[in-house]
Amino acid sequence: MFGGSGYSGLELLRILAWHPQVRVVAASSDRWAGRPVAASVAGWPTDLGFTAHDDVLAAVKPHQIALLATPAKTSAVLAPQLLDAGARVVDLSGAFRLQNPDAYVQWYGFEHPCPTLLADAHYGLPELLEVPAQARLVANPGCYATAAILAAAPLLRERLIPTSAPIIVDGKSGTTGAGRSVNEALLHAEVTENLRAYRVTKHQHTPEIERALALVSKQAPKVSFTAHLVPMRRGILVSVYVPVVDGVDEEAARAAYGKAYGRAPFIRLVDRPPETAAVRDSNLTEIGCTLDPRTGVLCAFAAIDNLVKGAAGQAVQNLNRLLSLPTGIGLSPGAGGAP
Ligand SMILES: NC(=O)c1ccc[n+]([C@@H]2O[C@H](COP(=O)([O-])OP(=O)(O)OC[C@H]3O[C@@H](n4cnc5c(N)ncnc54)[C@H](OP(=O)(O)O)[C@@H]3O)[C@@H](O)[C@H]2O)c1
Repeated sequence: MFGGSGYSGLELLRILAWHPQVRVVAASSDRWAGRPVAASVAGWPTDLGFTAHDDVLAAVKPHQIALLATPAKTSAVLAPQLLDAGARVVDLSGAFRLQNPDAYVQWYGFEHPCPTLLADAHYGLPELLEVPAQARLVANPGCYATAAILAAAPLLRERLIPTSAPIIVDGKSGTTGAGRSVNEALLHAEVTENLRAYRVTKHQHTPEIERALALVSKQAPKVSFTAHLVPMRRGILVSVYVPVVDGVDEEAARAAYGKAYGRAPFIRLVDRPPETAAVRDSNLTEIGCTLDPRTGVLCAFAAIDNLVKGAAGQAVQNLNRLLSLPTGIGLSPGAGGAP
C-alpha cells in the first residue's frame, strides 16, 4: 500500500493487521522509510518496515492489489504505472472519482495526467454502487461524499424529493479529514474553540456527490454543499435539507432507507439524530431523518468516521469485493483506532 504514514493509510494498516485473507507486503512512506510498521500500528503481525515510495513501486508484481492513500495529484500519476505493472488499484483519493477531465482543473486545481483512464475507473460505494469483482481501478469515495450520498440517494431513487430544487448538504468534519500535512489553518490554536466553513461553493466533493446521485437515481440533481471544520479529531456529520414532493411523509422517507439499506451490515438506521460518537472507530454509518411538517422540508442526517467508512474501511469493503469476499471480512464494527 502507498501512503502508509498518513491518517488514512495508518487506518488501513490498523484494519488490515487483522484481516484474515489479506497480507500486506509493502507500506510506503518516504518520511518513515526504515521504521517498523509495528512502531505505529499496535498488534502489527510482521517485521515489515515502511519503504520509500519508489522502491515499493519498483517491486510491484502482477496480480497484487495496490491501495493508494496518497494525495489526488500523486494517485493520478501512480495508478497508471501500477496498472501497467499488472496490479489492480483501489485509490482512496479523488483522482479517479470524476469522469470529465476538465472537472479536475476546476475542482482539484490540476490538469489530469491520465484522462483516458477516467472512463475505466469504477466508483465503489458498496451499499449503492458495487464495483465488478474483476475491476482494475476502483475510486474509493470521498468522506463527505460518502455520508451525503448515503443520506440523499434513497430519497431521490424513490422520487420523494424533486430535482427542481438544489439539495442542500451541510457537512461538518473533524480535523483528520484534512490529512497530516503541515498547514497553518489547522494549528490547534486556529481550530480549537472555533467553527468555520471552508471552500464555500468550491469543495471538490460537490461534483462527486452529484455524479453518484445521478448514477443511483437516473436523475440529474444539483447539490449545494458546504463543508465546516469542527474542533474534534475524527467524525463527519452531514445534514441534508430538501423539500419533499407533495404528499410524502416521514414514514415514506424511512421506508426508502429501509428498502435501500435493510440488509447492509454497515448501515444503522436510527430514530434519533445520528451522531459521530456513535460510529467513531467503526465502519458504520448512522442515518436518520425528520420531516418538518410546518415547512415540508426533510432533514436527513448521516454520521460516519471519516477515516473508516469515509476512507480505509470503505476501501477494505472494495478490496473484499475485488477478492470476491463478503463485504465485511476484516471489518468488525470496532475496527479502527485513535490517530
Ligand atoms: N483524511 C481523511 O479523512 C480522508 C478521507 C477520505 C479520503 N482521503 C484521501 O486519502 C488520501 C490520503 O489522505 P490523508 O488524509 O491520509 O493524507 P495525509 O495524512 O496527508 O498522508 C498523505 C500520505 O501520502 C504520502 N505521499 C505524499 N506525497 C507522496 C508521493 N509523491 N508519493 C507517494 N506518497 C506520497 C505521504 O507519505 P510520506 O510519509 O512520504 O509523507 C503520506 O503517507 C488523500 O487523497 C485524501 O483526499 C482522506
